[in-house]
Amino acid sequence: MIGFFDSGFGGLTIMRAAVRVLPEYDYLYLGDNARAPYGGRSSKEILRFTIEAVEYLFSAGCMLIVVACNTASAEALRRVQQDYLPRRVPGRRVLGIVRPSAEEIARRRFRSVGIMATEGVVASNIYGEELSVLAPCVKVFQQACPGLVPLVESGRAGDPEAERLVAEYLDMLISRGPSLDAVLLACTHFPLLGDLFKKEAPPSVEILDQGAVVAVGLQDYLRRHPEIERHLGRQSRRSFVTTGAACHFNDLARRFYGESVESRHDGIGEIVSLLS
Ligand code: DGL
Repeated sequence: MIGFFDSGFGGLTIMRAAVRVLPEYDYLYLGDNARAPYGGRSSKEILRFTIEAVEYLFSAGCMLIVVACNTASAEALRRVQQDYLPRRVPGRRVLGIVRPSAEEIARRRFRSVGIMATEGVVASNIYGEELSVLAPCVKVFQQACPGLVPLVESGRAGDPEAERLVAEYLDMLISRGPSLDAVLLACTHFPLLGDLFKKEAPPSVEILDQGAVVAVGLQDYLRRHPEIERHLGRQSRRSFVTTGAACHFNDLARRFYGESVESRHDGIGEIVSLLS
């Protein structure tokens, strides 16, 4: 299977885009809803949670995992790729979503971009670092949006509070970067607020969504890595696991994934016990 992992529901927006481009493969999604949001947590905690999630998905039969969470990609991906994988599961792969998003910004030759993300992603400066290598001329303005993930995660993306916060965060970003070409929604929960971002942003600013970019990047990766691709199941199966309550996950997942899902609960205790 191809594994997808996020702190909660957000990664479903990325998996949905991947499934659209690569429908033939088998997918397993893991949402760590019981411990979401990750955005304000320490790097150490996020690294631990990410390793637990990756370990879980590999034990369940994934050959390749997409960490479909900017926060986990920023705080944990390098350590997972460099330290954990070669020691524990050589031959399997873990990909993130920051690099393909930064490559897309570089490819589009924007002069000035805004990055709207969780506190953890902004504090890590991962986008600043990637873009300083891939597109040294682009000016990068970053805005932490700590209030949005809890709203989305609790099914309140349509509340007036969400509109107020999106407008407030955009104002703060634009006051520092007045002539932005584009804003990247660098949190997988934000596509659910995509219409609000479009409504509140100046019309000249393009709002970039990561799902399609990551899906095309994954397609390209599989083309270049037949040694991974040939091990993937091709029965178009989709499975969903949440560390939270399955009924809550099923209720909200449709908004992120675009169709109803039948998830099952696997507790944090069970996941942690795989490590011991
Ligand atoms: N969806 C995640 C991201 O892309 C993070 C949400 C959170 O848990 O704070 O960063």
